Amino acid sequence: MSRSAHPAGPRHADVLPEGHYSAPPADLNALDPKVWAQTVTRDGHGVVTVGGIDVKTLAEQFGTPAYFLDEADFRARARAWRTAFGPDADVFYAGKAFLSRAVVRWLHEEGLNLDVCSGGELATALAGGMPAERIAFHGNNKSAEEITKAVESGVGRIVLDSFQEIVRVAHIASSLGKRQRVQIRVTVGVEAHTHEFIATAHEDQKFGIPLADGQAAEAVRRALQLDGLELVGIHSHIGSQIFDTSGFEVAAHRVVGLLRDVRDEHGIELPEIDLGGGLGIAYTSDDDPREPHEIAKALTEIVSRECDAARLRTPRISVEPGRAIVGPTAFTLYEVGTIKPLEGLRTYVSVDGGMSDNIRTALYDAEYSVALASRTSDAEPMLARVVGKHCESGDIVVKDAFLPADLAPGDLIAVPATGAYCRSMASNYNHALRPPVVAVNDGQARVIVRRETEEDLLRLDVG
Ligand code: LLP
Repeated sequence: MSRSAHPAGPRHADVLPEGHYSAPPADLNALDPKVWAQTVTRDGHGVVTVGGIDVKTLAEQFGTPAYFLDEADFRARARAWRTAFGPDADVFYAGKAFLSRAVVRWLHEEGLNLDVCSGGELATALAGGMPAERIAFHGNNKSAEEITKAVESGVGRIVLDSFQEIVRVAHIASSLGKRQRVQIRVTVGVEAHTHEFIATAHEDQKFGIPLADGQAAEAVRRALQLDGLELVGIHSHIGSQIFDTSGFEVAAHRVVGLLRDVRDEHGIELPEIDLGGGLGIAYTSDDDPREPHEIAKALTEIVSRECDAARLRTPRISVEPGRAIVGPTAFTLYEVGTIKPLEGLRTYVSVDGGMSDNIRTALYDAEYSVALASRTSDAEPMLARVVGKHCESGDIVVKDAFLPADLAPGDLIAVPATGAYCRSMASNYNHALRPPVVAVNDGQARVIVRRETEEDLLRLDVG
């Protein structure tokens, strides 16, 4: 991903020099398992299927645009993370990536915990049946109402993000006659190799309390003095869409340094360390994410090595993957509406959704793949840009993609790896109706978040 974005979106008007684009794939009809959900394949007629149902049938039944989520894949990924970290660690799925009651139920059944960062996410988590003690509550500016709700419902931990919040949570917990388990989120000064809008542990940003200048040590001092708080650990999240563990290594080193200082000053060994989420997924065939077991092994080794060096008991580790669990499990299905070849440039393919269902391309210059899904084609590859139907020229879904030159209005195209941060960041721009999320599993398709209707929009408009 590029590290800078045009204020109004990607630099969509740049015409890149000839030879810039990677060559078209050898087979335009192939579906790279790296970017598609596990059960996605083509049937005997060449139509893309997921969970045993073809996209033409799905489009007929549920309409387009729509997100189709492979439930078996979601469960398998959740399980893989859980198994990789084992019983001595906790995996908190980051609900901001995508949350619904069905997802909460799957997570509960697969033995994962849940990280929420707003009252709305907390309400969904509780409504979905996640036991409160398995919920962690995040956020850099939680309201008094949110804190009260979290404490009252008995969440397993609140992650404190500022000095004000230390006092606020302590006060609310005390006045409810409770002692709230908390972690302190620190910024360790690591700049993750990712887009600057989603890197979160360098110091010049809004999250966490800096380790620098003894600020985090002071936060610990204050938290330990307050009756309403039970300080159980330190939290660090270094960014998103990260492919290597070197940033986590530095983060773990610095967090363990703080644990050592806390032991030396207060004689207490804090029992938990949370390394956050941020593990990358493949959006295109060029991306090479690591498997959960490799990441678990690397992170566990790093923490125990650092703790051995500091002569500390290794704390219980937790992680918070969101994208790495849900991202690859869904694709967005669109119908092609218009096709506009621009001589010498590229062909603009307009679909029936756009930046309202996937803001990531406009916001982060994100890269996606796309495939003709309702049929196969032997036509030549055509350099295309998939755009939406919004009144904005930065409304791009897939910047550069090869699609077959015989693509026609009415064809269905699918954009994979849209499970994370697409529905959850969807908007009603131009009064678009946010698409449904349909879970597909073993020949059954079920709406888990329904499509918005014009009535939904008008319900909020009080006239
Ligand atoms: N834990 C904390 C404290 C976080 O802030 C985040 C993401 C996660 C876990 C989960 O990160 P993941 O594993 O999903 O990368 N909208 C952006 C991503 C923003 C992530 C914010 N925090 C995007 O679409 O790329």
